[in-house]
Amino acid sequence: MPQMSPDTALSGLSRPAEPEHTAPEPVTPYYSRGVQLKAKHDGTKMVSGRSLETWALGLVPVKAVAKILDAGCGWGRFTWPLIETFALTSTNVTGIDTSLGMLETAAEEGQRRRRRPAFASADIQALPFPPGYFDAAMANHVLYHLPDIHKAVGKLARVLKEHGWLLATTNSDDVQVPVLEFHYAALDELSIGHNSGGHSSFSMENGGEILGAGFSNVDRHFFDDETRYTSADQFLASYKTIGRYRNLLAREDINPEKKRQLPVLVRQRAEEVISRIGELRSPVRMGAFVCTGPRK
Ligand SMILES: C[S@@+](CC[C@H](N)C(=O)[O-])C[C@H]1O[C@@H](n2cnc3c(N)ncnc32)[C@H](O)[C@@H]1O
Repeated sequence: MPQMSPDTALSGLSRPAEPEHTAPEPVTPYYSRGVQLKAKHDGTKMVSGRSLETWALGLVPVKAVAKILDAGCGWGRFTWPLIETFALTSTNVTGIDTSLGMLETAAEEGQRRRRRPAFASADIQALPFPPGYFDAAMANHVLYHLPDIHKAVGKLARVLKEHGWLLATTNSDDVQVPVLEFHYAALDELSIGHNSGGHSSFSMENGGEILGAGFSNVDRHFFDDETRYTSADQFLASYKTIGRYRNLLAREDINPEKKRQLPVLVRQRAEEVISRIGELRSPVRMGAFVCTGPRK
């Protein structure tokens, strides 16, 4: 299979060969550009000093890998450490995503870093690669977006070699973070309807069973940490990068005055905690599944 450069990806030459899915679209307005997700990742620092990316990549034998797929790569949060920290050759790394905006940010990031992995527009549920093409694959913080996760897991298993592995990171359903608590409390105060309940379709709690359909071994690893804010402005800057806030701003059915009030109320809640106890702590509970033995 020919390597796909960012340029060919963005000019549309590397669209998926399989006709199962039509023109890809970002799953939410938040993903129509990569800069917002990058700002969120850049602005989230763990108290321990660790990063999810380096921790998760440390769970798998990256250095033994030739070709690797970053499925749902976004702006390349995991793509760049593969090349820059784990010394994989750029041309052996392929990132795919359905959002052209994400791929554009990834390509810009590649130019800035002078690295040229292949980025292409493709859907994980219809991967345009031959069976056994990759030594390894990643599907990080993406499977919960897919309408058909089981199909995606089957496709990921299919494109892997017999001894290949899949790394899949995701969030835990078992954690409450102030940024979302304050967001929903402010929505309630402004009488903006929402559905804050419900569990993720792919979490640290239910993901093992889902992946087990495509892989004979699935190991689960938790990443527990904390983020800490010492000023309400710092908290607010972080709040303004999250998808739930950005998507709400994109909604035309919400009164502009309410949209203006929302961050004001969120900031007030953060200020109240910080002025009382000097800081605002937010637990982080995420993790990674390491899967081997792809079922064909
Ligand atoms: C939360 S971001 C994660 C990006 C990256 N893996 C990371 O960990 O930073 C989810 C990404 O999955 C992409 N995505 C959503 N549905 C997809 C699909 N069906 N196939 C490929 N990518 C998809 C989105 O466009 C977005 O870039």
